[in-house]
Amino acid sequence: MFIDANTNSPIKCQGIKTKPVDWIRSKTLQIKGVWHEPFMGSGVVGFNIQPKNAVFCDTNPHLIQFYKDMKSKIIEPQSIREYLEIENKKLLTRADDYYKEVRARFNQNPNSFDFIFLNRCCFNGMMRFNSKGKLNVPFCKKPQRFTKSYITKISNQIKNISGLIDSNNYSFFCNSFEKTISQATQDDFIYCDPPYIDRYSDYFNSWKEESELKLFDLLKNTQAKFILSTWHHNQYRDNIYIQNYWKIFNMLTKDHFYHLGAKQNNRNTITEALIFNF
Ligand SMILES: C[S@@+](CC[C@H](N)C(=O)[O-])C[C@H]1O[C@@H](n2cnc3c(N)ncnc32)[C@H](O)[C@@H]1O
Repeated sequence: MFIDANTNSPIKCQGIKTKPVDWIRSKTLQIKGVWHEPFMGSGVVGFNIQPKNAVFCDTNPHLIQFYKDMKSKIIEPQSIREYLEIENKKLLTRADDYYKEVRARFNQNPNSFDFIFLNRCCFNGMMRFNSKGKLNVPFCKKPQRFTKSYITKISNQIKNISGLIDSNNYSFFCNSFEKTISQATQDDFIYCDPPYIDRYSDYFNSWKEESELKLFDLLKNTQAKFILSTWHHNQYRDNIYIQNYWKIFNMLTKDHFYHLGAKQNNRNTITEALIFNF
């Protein structure tokens, strides 16, 4: 199965690479072996590259469980549609109170249905977890969030990604990046998109100097080809890890505009980098 237009993931997360996906794909060579994506997040990069064989990993267990549940058909376009239609009615009448009820039940007993509900109606589509690994994002304040067309859109996204999972050899593991990268061999390709160093972090997204240096060390020694996404600079500062470490590899940069919050004039630019060893 091949999807021509860029395909969207049903899961949203911080640092999602929906926009730069074409740029990343343009640098990706033909993949002879296995595609390894140690920081899959929404999975949107691999799902657009569409390798035949892939290992997708992340330390966020809820993301991984969601994709495992898609693979085992617990999550399907129709079951998600029915679930969201029922939840929508409750959200319309009880709004914030209902959102909090689902969040509490998810934090007590996580499951992939509640996960996508929360993911798609939490504030700013942010998945933020507290120090105990509990989701603590507030409601997006739109009780009418799950319109008919929004539910159809999510259900179609699940249909597209399920089609890819069914027609390729894809596995999903809740692993830290060290394990994923060390399993890659010569013909394989590794795409790394770690939490950006010195920027936003939370329980599943904490990223300190020690992690960046470990990643550098593993990628320096891998036999596989790799691409790393990172930030190069913004209007205030440079990413010092590029000068201090990553500059030994090849690099491309591109400006990326993004909005902070709701105001149109809160426009910021970050220069993104792709670092690669080929
Ligand atoms: C920038 S996001 C990846 C976004 C993804 N490329 C996308 O387009 O949706 C970084 C991801 O790394 C994961 N992560 C954080 N620390 C990790 C670690 N030590 N090992 C593996 N994954 C980790 C986070 O849970 C998060 O999903």
